[in-house]
Amino acid sequence: MTDTNYDLIVIGAGPGGYVAAIRAAQLGLKTACVESRETLGGTCLNVGCIPSKALLHASELYEEAHSGTLAKFGISFKDVKMDVAAMQAEKAKAVGELTGGIEFLFKKNKVDWIKGRARFSGPNSIDVNGTSYSAKKIMIATGSSVTPLPGVEIDQQVVVDSTGALALPKVPKHLIVIGGGVIGLELGSVWRRLGAEVTVVEYLDQLLPGMDGDVRKEAAKIFKKQGFTLKLSTKVTGVVVKGGKARVSIEPAAGGATETLEADCVLVAIGRRPNTEGLDLAKAGVETNARGQIEVGHDFQTKVPGIYAVGDVTPGPMLAHKAEDEGIAAAEFCAGQVGIVNHDVIPGVVYTMPEFAGVGLTEEQAKERGDVKVGKFPMMANSRAKTNRDTDGFVKVVADAKTDRVLGVHIVASLAGTMIAQAAQAMEFGATSEDIAYTCHAHPTHAEALKEAAMAVTGKPIHI
Ligand code: FAD
Ligand code: NAI
Repeated sequence: MTDTNYDLIVIGAGPGGYVAAIRAAQLGLKTACVESRETLGGTCLNVGCIPSKALLHASELYEEAHSGTLAKFGISFKDVKMDVAAMQAEKAKAVGELTGGIEFLFKKNKVDWIKGRARFSGPNSIDVNGTSYSAKKIMIATGSSVTPLPGVEIDQQVVVDSTGALALPKVPKHLIVIGGGVIGLELGSVWRRLGAEVTVVEYLDQLLPGMDGDVRKEAAKIFKKQGFTLKLSTKVTGVVVKGGKARVSIEPAAGGATETLEADCVLVAIGRRPNTEGLDLAKAGVETNARGQIEVGHDFQTKVPGIYAVGDVTPGPMLAHKAEDEGIAAAEFCAGQVGIVNHDVIPGVVYTMPEFAGVGLTEEQAKERGDVKVGKFPMMANSRAKTNRDTDGFVKVVADAKTDRVLGVHIVASLAGTMIAQAAQAMEFGATSEDIAYTCHAHPTHAEALKEAAMAVTGKPIHI
């Protein structure tokens, strides 16, 4: 029988919660983690990062074979076919292996998995399926869910959210994506590559809010070139579903004439909101802010001593690696140690082709704080990108004009998601652009573009 008294109970087994639980157990705390899903790993492993990347990978392979990219290298096929069911099965296999892996890690580290939904019954106690559990400390890692669009009902058949869009059994003829953010562009890319016509309706005048201005402009160019129809500065005023088809009414964001688009699938991807409903936070004395998030101090403790919160349920970017790092740091605090997360250096990556990545301040944000120097280098001038025929994009380094310290790095490149790690590490070590410029980079690699962009900060790149 499960013991009901713990040092730490973590609510939610996503990247924030499961990582926190494992770290706490490693540090000697008697730990349990409550999760209501059938499998561990949260949004990320079950219906987020992992399945989306499996579909992005599969659809990229198909497009390379189908569109003639491989033919340019002399690899040709008589007939390229896409078996959506096989792709979905392979995705499910990857998800199963990874969620099963967390279950193994829980057993290995002696973390008890309490199955069911948790609600607070007091500051040191929760209730799950009628059983009461108490702990010296409780960590809230309940994550986030899709923000609904008022008046638009998600039926997961014709009108889907990201979870539905990850599980479509066939390629839609016309997919309308509401929201030109990360989910819209990643999942829009998957289905466009497989043959769908994709229209993105975005309220703002550019895609990818929060990213650097040059990156956002480049995104619009690249996605248009790939065949996306972009309706920027446009709002959706209604979606009507009839006979398996959706009629989507749109009008200019500033107001104006209404237009109606028809589609056989509509993806609503207008953001996510923190999961706090049904937790009975009031019983523990925990409050939420105006955006529904749980605010925490530097030690990830809420205003109630002994109650911690990490990940999407707290302010900051809704990213798996942010949640993980917070989980580790918070667990270390719970164990009496000091944990650190540098929230100024959290990379963000959009895993389309090319990838879009950024870390630190955008050029616009940096300019608001003082004088900056900017170095840019096009992937077109990078030898490895040339050999691989993937020359879309650029690297941009934003540095402080006086100290030369790197304030931000923004990359559009096929390998931007991998390249950004070097930039993040350099920034974590307080690097100047000169430090990057004088670091020997292997040739020929896409990463050399970062070295050249750093050289461009002081006006001396070699290859342009
Ligand atoms: P979650 O992963 O949401 O986990 C919270 C868990 O808590 C859930 O499993 C939920 O069932 C459980 N829970 C909630 N309430 C209770 C309760 N009362 N009792 C018990 N259990 C409860 N991020 C990236 O960094 N990279 C990506 O490539 C990426 N791709 C994404 C793609 C998609 C389609 C989506 C939707 C998201 C993606 N994200 C990505 C975001 C990422 O998934 C989240 O930032 C991350 O999962 C947040 O982790 P978390 O631990 O805070 O919460
Ligand atoms: P998002 O915030 O990235 O994008 C939502 C977009 O919808 C914005 O551009 C916004 O202006 C637009 N929008 C809002 N209301 C609208 C309306 N009524 N009509 C038209 N457009 C509207 O949110 P998204 O894409 O839903 O992703 C949610 C979260 O999941 C993000 O915070 C992201 O961090 C995370 N995520 C991360 C990924 C990654 O790291 N690669 C991949 C997928 C999701």
